[in-house]
Amino acid sequence: MQQITLRTPDDWHLHFRDGDILSETVAATARCFKRAIVMPNLVPPVTNAAMAMAYKSRIVEAIPDGNNFEPLMVLYLTNDTSVQDIQDAKAAGVIAAKLYPAGATTNSDAAVDGIEALYPIFEEMAKQGMLLLIHGEVTEAEIDIFDREKAFIDRFLRKIVAEFVDLKIVFEHITTSDAVDFVVESPENVAATITPQHLLLNRNDLLVGGVKPHNYCLPVLKRNTHQQALREVVASGSSKFFLGTDSAPHEKERKENACGCAGCYSAWSALELYTHVFDELGALDKLEGFASIHGANFYGLAVNEGTVTLKKETWTVPEEIILPNGKPIVPFYAGQQVSWKLAE
Ligand code: DOR
Ligand code: ZN
Repeated sequence: MQQITLRTPDDWHLHFRDGDILSETVAATARCFKRAIVMPNLVPPVTNAAMAMAYKSRIVEAIPDGNNFEPLMVLYLTNDTSVQDIQDAKAAGVIAAKLYPAGATTNSDAAVDGIEALYPIFEEMAKQGMLLLIHGEVTEAEIDIFDREKAFIDRFLRKIVAEFVDLKIVFEHITTSDAVDFVVESPENVAATITPQHLLLNRNDLLVGGVKPHNYCLPVLKRNTHQQALREVVASGSSKFFLGTDSAPHEKERKENACGCAGCYSAWSALELYTHVFDELGALDKLEGFASIHGANFYGLAVNEGTVTLKKETWTVPEEIILPNGKPIVPFYAGQQVSWKLAE
């Protein structure tokens, strides 16, 4: 196949950040996605309706003229989140809340210690029809970083899913065969997003032949058998799995650093890279479901009206992009060739 046309896709998990950088990050996503679920891990985090709506207006300001992109806002759960916060957020149009275990990732210090304490909040979310988005990793120092996703399933997620049968739960950016199996075996109210990097890469791409800081993200890349399980499940066409890039920009100097930040800035190549993966898998017929249909259906939103077209054409991801503050950022897959290109 030399060309593929999809219903306009959505990105069900990304990080736009805030301030000047929005003109870069929002434009990169709006070039091909109609909507995106915007993560709330700002400093300070987006913990109430007023903050979510103010953040939404700053994003909307940054949408390029003539583009009808729509940001979908998310509340950041803390131990101080109240039932009233959930009600107010829902009334303001916030559609989901994000659970970060404390210390799990970038700007998650304010997050949750003791997940059971949030059960009354989850109950209210189920009542309000708000989705629970989960960064599924435990954070205890004694748990090996490669085992943290599985440990989260066994210690927390199984219980949450058993307890809240009416709460829609998205297990975000899954990385292991354990997570794939868990989601497949869970009831219909449980789904997962998958990033381009976890489909394309495994931990050798992070660690063999020198550390590759631009492939460092959380949850960290896993061994190739886990990568294979992710690839197989997207090729199966299961409606429980959908596109979430986790595009997460960090300036070059913060990635190429003695204590480098986690996150891959994939917005400029993500749709093309997913297409490349589905092509490799001989599953291009499953791409539209993954990118444009399953997520909307799970969220209870209409699918998009328009279309995007990708052509089989090789291009090279730029080595660097200069941010509005003048600093460089290295995009995901920098300097590497991609075999599909978004048609203008
Ligand atoms: O790699 C990551 N980067 N994983 C996350 O969960 C957060 C994100 C970020 O905000 O940079
Ligand atoms: Zn994320």
